[in-house]
Amino acid sequence: MKTTISQVSKHLNEEVTIGAWLANKRSSGKIAFLQLRDGTGFMQGIVVKADIGEDKFQEAKALTQESSMYVTGTIVEDTRSPLGYEMQVTDFEIIHEAVDYPITPKEHGTEFLMDHRHLWLRSKRQHGVMKIRNEIIRATYEFFNENGYVKIDPPILTGSSAEGTTELFHTKYFEEDAYLSQSGQLYMEAAAMAFGKVFSFGPTFRAEKSKTRRHLIEFWMIEPEMAFMDHEDSLEVQEQYVSHVVQSVLKNCKIELEALGRDTGQLEKIQAPFPRISYDEAIQLVKEKGFDDIEWGDDFGAPHETAIAESYDKPVFITNYPAEIKAFYMKPDPARPEVVLCADLIAPEGYGEIIGGSQRIDDLELMKQRYEDHGLTGDAYNWYLQLREYGSVPHSGFGLGLERTVAWIAGVEHVRETIPFPRLLNRLYP
Ligand code: 4AD
Ligand code: MG
Repeated sequence: MKTTISQVSKHLNEEVTIGAWLANKRSSGKIAFLQLRDGTGFMQGIVVKADIGEDKFQEAKALTQESSMYVTGTIVEDTRSPLGYEMQVTDFEIIHEAVDYPITPKEHGTEFLMDHRHLWLRSKRQHGVMKIRNEIIRATYEFFNENGYVKIDPPILTGSSAEGTTELFHTKYFEEDAYLSQSGQLYMEAAAMAFGKVFSFGPTFRAEKSKTRRHLIEFWMIEPEMAFMDHEDSLEVQEQYVSHVVQSVLKNCKIELEALGRDTGQLEKIQAPFPRISYDEAIQLVKEKGFDDIEWGDDFGAPHETAIAESYDKPVFITNYPAEIKAFYMKPDPARPEVVLCADLIAPEGYGEIIGGSQRIDDLELMKQRYEDHGLTGDAYNWYLQLREYGSVPHSGFGLGLERTVAWIAGVEHVRETIPFPRLLNRLYP
């Protein structure tokens, strides 16, 4: 019977056939251990000379890394492996022999691995990271569907900027100028006025010249937007959503977390509510931690965020930043108009900002004023102003960066490992 590694628990003591690749192998004179992978998981296959015969045993010993085959054998328990099962191989049939697979079990440099990303994805570590990414996406749809949100897809090709004009990817749209989307937010605001609670999930592009472990040129964002919700309401959605995602990964990705050596004790603590500190308090905290030169009005860099996160074992919201250093659409705090009703959510363990969100300006005159201050003119933005002209309501939303969230939950250092084919400052290949 044909099955997959993910399903072997249903076939204890039965003989099954699995289409697989050889990830690794070691052997002695009488026994060969095949590390098999089939896309759904990794499993050990044991080939015993006395059982399989001399010729087949020699063939097993000669198998090369990444050769593909159908392997047949009996599924037995193996308490030492994370999977809990292994196969006693009775037969195998080679489909295709791989010669000189470039990624060997020894250590390789990062650039070499990145050049071979199309093959590197097969490794146990990369498999674990992508399965966790997949679980985060699944849990995202689950959370928003269960809470009454409608999935809305904003455009990728746009005529305007959502977050500021410096990081736009420019292209031509026939005779017109166009830009790849930096954020679907402005469109999601229109959608919230039509559907109440909405979320998007799609690729976003930023021509950032930053070469850090947190920046990609192309990354995926989840952007919920909610009508009739203020900033506080939005923070509650954020902490519940992030907790749901982390708890789902803990529950459904045990093997992957173990393969990555993730300290799951850290993740178990991630339950709503999350602590909140104001920007003012965060500036104080950073000063106390020895960054003397930071002043009120400065934005936080990665080292500051890491220093702030160190004081907490959950993600922490930094709220109410100066209006000057945030986007044009954020609503000023009525009690203190120099700061805006916004928050960044900073992940623990030095993974930095995973969410940026705010309450949006709902007053037409104030929004017009912001347009003038920011030099935003022309037809590209007129539709956005109209949202404040016809039944404007308080509304809030946020954007969660998928790759930074994967990096944090999977416990991998750099975002380049959290997306199948990363687009980095100097990399458009493979
Ligand atoms: O804070 P940002 O710029 O917020 C927005 O774009 C809002 N319009 C979202 C909204 O309110 N709907 O980006 C949101 C998140 C960041 O917190 C970060 O996790 C991620 O997107 N992000 C990046 N991830 C990887 N590489 C980059 N270059 C990123 N830039 C932002
Ligand atoms: Mg931000």
